[in-house]
Amino acid sequence: MRKIFAFTASAFALSALTLSAEASPTYVDNFRLVDHERVSHELYYYQDAPAIVLMTVTADSDFSVRAIEALAELRDEYAAEGVRFYLINPDATETRTEMSDAMAAAGVDMPVLMDARQLVSESLALETTGEVLVINPRTGFQLAYRGPVSGQVDGRGRTPYLANALDALIAGDNVEMASVDMRRGDSVVLPHANTSLHQSISYAEDVAPILVERCGGCHVAGGIAPWELADYETIQGWAPMIREVIRTDRMPPYFPDFDHAGTFYSENELSPEEARTIVHWIEAGAPRGEGEDPLLDALEPLPEWPLGEPDYIVEVTPFDIPATGILEYEYPTIPNQMEEGRWLRATHVRPGSNQGVHHVTSGYIQNRNAAVDEIEGNLPSGSVGSYTPGQNPQEFHEGVGTYLSPGGAFRFSMHYTTFGLEETDRTQVGLYFHDEPPELIMRSTVIGDSNFVIPAGEENFHITSYTLFPADAELYTLYPHAHYRGKRV
Ligand code: HEC
Repeated sequence: MRKIFAFTASAFALSALTLSAEASPTYVDNFRLVDHERVSHELYYYQDAPAIVLMTVTADSDFSVRAIEALAELRDEYAAEGVRFYLINPDATETRTEMSDAMAAAGVDMPVLMDARQLVSESLALETTGEVLVINPRTGFQLAYRGPVSGQVDGRGRTPYLANALDALIAGDNVEMASVDMRRGDSVVLPHANTSLHQSISYAEDVAPILVERCGGCHVAGGIAPWELADYETIQGWAPMIREVIRTDRMPPYFPDFDHAGTFYSENELSPEEARTIVHWIEAGAPRGEGEDPLLDALEPLPEWPLGEPDYIVEVTPFDIPATGILEYEYPTIPNQMEEGRWLRATHVRPGSNQGVHHVTSGYIQNRNAAVDEIEGNLPSGSVGSYTPGQNPQEFHEGVGTYLSPGGAFRFSMHYTTFGLEETDRTQVGLYFHDEPPELIMRSTVIGDSNFVIPAGEENFHITSYTLFPADAELYTLYPHAHYRGKRV
């Protein structure tokens, strides 16, 4: 068994500073970061890799460029072994464009994880550019190495510490954590890392208001989330999980990229400050502190129909969900009983069986008596509501609507899943109408390809689908849907 040793003395004693190994974590908790080219990476996704290498860089650093070149050489040597190589940029002031330019200048193609919230950099105790961490997924994402990328002159020639660590991990050896002195690059500035200040974050004044604002729309009685913001004790109980869902960016479940021009109508994301406040408070032990508990009377339970009593309720054909088995989609068609044409402004799907309904999608058939070859008059014209677990009511923008002609029909695609018990589903769809015809007609279309095979072992299989707009249009909403195989859209 090969061993790697940690050396603290080096020929560079004058210019080398010892890295603060005491702040260094033993295990690396899961995180998700988006790289400089917009690809999302989650640490635990790479549990099958023999090793994960992470090196600190910034865009504006010559030291980084030399280290990146050295790491790229190593990456090429280990390409066949499945070792994952990443760079991490802890400088919240640098943009992806700056980082892309720096990578182009270095002539190296390697993902740079942009840590704008700095929560990952803090917990990894990053100190200087050029510092390499090696993570061992096989032992629960334990840290196996911290030090420079290239060998160190230590009086006995250059010892390739990092390469030695990788060899040992690839061979499946037990590897002890090695911390190697290095010449410092540019210091990493983590202004919020002072843990003694985290003790004074106030639950009542700092944390609870963010939770109410960012999480309260769903984590409320009658809401779609599985637990409620009831009181301090609830938050304390969920605290480790809350830290995890923020580090992995799962909550709030709002995934558009922020590096785009313009603002989304329904934007709901934690700002970096808000994310840090909650996570630092949890890392400080989630103390109750002073003050009344604001959660006790912050949130009203949601009513049955959060948008108010619907103007019209479509009762989807009841369906008996068996206890077991795989079910084909159901396509019930429900005639529209209204005698006048109406313009839809909002919809709310209420599943009858919370556990059994996996999705509801819909379209409106303007003329249910049209012959099949009268395609034009028979085209479904836009959604009249859709649902997947976690979906809130859908309101169109002002001045936008879908027309429901008299004599038409609502057509649904119902995806039921079995869950061990029989249940009869009685899904209802509440419809809300405009008083006046809207300026713009809402239509919806599915841009998808459901006919492909992912080759075995292919880790980044791309699928391209397209649609051609028959006229100028205003893009109103995008709903990416890819089930668990999908990594990004
Ligand atoms: C748009 C609705 C919505 C918002 C806003 C929201 N959540 Fe959730 N949350 C959910 C749903 C739905 C689930 C259940 C997810 C599942 O089962 O996969 C969930 C689950 C969770 C869980 C359990 C772990 C898990 O992944 O199932 C935690 C912890 C959590 N949310 C924390 C938060 C925090 C903290 C916020 C605010 C910063 C927040 N949520 C905002 C809908 C929401």
